[in-house]
Amino acid sequence: MTVESPLADRIEATRTQALDAIAQASTLDDLEALRIRFLGRKGELTTALSAMGKLPAEERPRIGALANEVKRDLERRLEEREQALGEEALRRRLETERVDVTLPGTDWPRGIRHPLIQALREVVDIFRRMGYEVIEGPEVEWDEYNFTKLNIPPHHPARDMWESLYLSEDMLLRTHTSPAQARIMESRQPPLRVIVPGRCYRNEAEDATHGIQFLQIEGLVVDRGITLADLKGTLHALCAAYFGPQRKIRFRPSYFPFTEPSAEVDVACAVCGGARCRSCGFKGWLELLGSGMVHPNVLRFAGYDPEVYSGFAFGMGPDRLAIQRYAIDDLRVFRENDLRFLEQFR
Ligand code: PHE
Repeated sequence: MTVESPLADRIEATRTQALDAIAQASTLDDLEALRIRFLGRKGELTTALSAMGKLPAEERPRIGALANEVKRDLERRLEEREQALGEEALRRRLETERVDVTLPGTDWPRGIRHPLIQALREVVDIFRRMGYEVIEGPEVEWDEYNFTKLNIPPHHPARDMWESLYLSEDMLLRTHTSPAQARIMESRQPPLRVIVPGRCYRNEAEDATHGIQFLQIEGLVVDRGITLADLKGTLHALCAAYFGPQRKIRFRPSYFPFTEPSAEVDVACAVCGGARCRSCGFKGWLELLGSGMVHPNVLRFAGYDPEVYSGFAFGMGPDRLAIQRYAIDDLRVFRENDLRFLEQFR
C-alpha cells in the first residue's frame, strides 16, 4: 500500500528498521526487546500513530490501515524469527549433546547379599515351599516370653542354659527366637505352621562357632495329631534341600525345658569329614539346631488343650548351616567385613 504522507513515510521507515533488527536478532531475549521497542505501549509504532489525531479526517483511515498492516507484519516476522531461533537452538543442542552409543558402558560395582542373609533366605524359602508362614518377633523381649512362658520359671537353673544380656529387671535381648512361639500361640488358634527368622544375642565368649549376635530361624507347627515323625521328616527334608541328600545328619536326644522329648540335629562336619577339628569342636559333628515336641505346659500357657493339640518346634542357626555348606572353619569370618572373603558369595 502506498500512501503519500510524512506520517506514512515514518511508519514505513519504522517497518524497515524493525524488519532489519528482527532479521539480525540472535536470541529470544533480543526478540522480546524488539517487540517492546516497536510494538509496546510506548513503542515506535504506537507513538507514530498518536500523531494521527493531527491528520485531516479523510487521511486517517488510510494511515490507520497502513499502521495495522505494519503491526501485523511485524508480529508475524517476530513470530517466524522466534520459531527459527528455537529450532536453531534445538539443533545445536542435538548436535553437541549427541550420544555415542558405541562407547563402552560404565560398570557400577554391584553389591550382593551378605552370605548369612543368603543362607537365611534360602532356608526360609525351603519352608515357604512346605507351606510355612513367615512371622517376626521383637529382638528386645520380656523375660516372661523369653523364659517363663517357655516353661522356665524365674530363678530356675535352666535359665543358665542361655547367657542372657538383660536390659532391666524383666527385659532382655532375646537369647533365642523361641519367645515368638509363645507370642504366636497366644494370639492365634491352631493349626499353626510358621517360621520366625531373626537376630538373637547371648553373652558368650566368642569362638569359631559362637558369636554374641547370631541369626536363628524358629519353626513351630501345632495341630491335631502332630508326632515326632512329623518333626523328623521335616528336618530331614530341610537338610536334604539345603545340603543335598548325600550329607549325613543325626538326631541326638537332648533337653530343652519347652520341648519333650527334645532332640538336636547334627551334621557330619564338612571341614574335617568327621576326623574332628576346631570348627566342629573336635566332635566330627556340628550341632545345627535344637528341636522337640512342644511341651504340654507351653501349650497350656497359651490356652491350648494338650489333650487335643500337639506340635513340634525347632530353632536353627543359619550361620552354622552356612559354615557347613561352604566348609568354613570359623564363623567369625562372616562378621569381619573382609570383602575378599564376602565377594566369593556372588
Ligand atoms: N531355642 C533353643 C535354643 O536356642 C532351640 C530350640 C528351639 C529347641 C525350639 C527346641 C525347640 O537353644
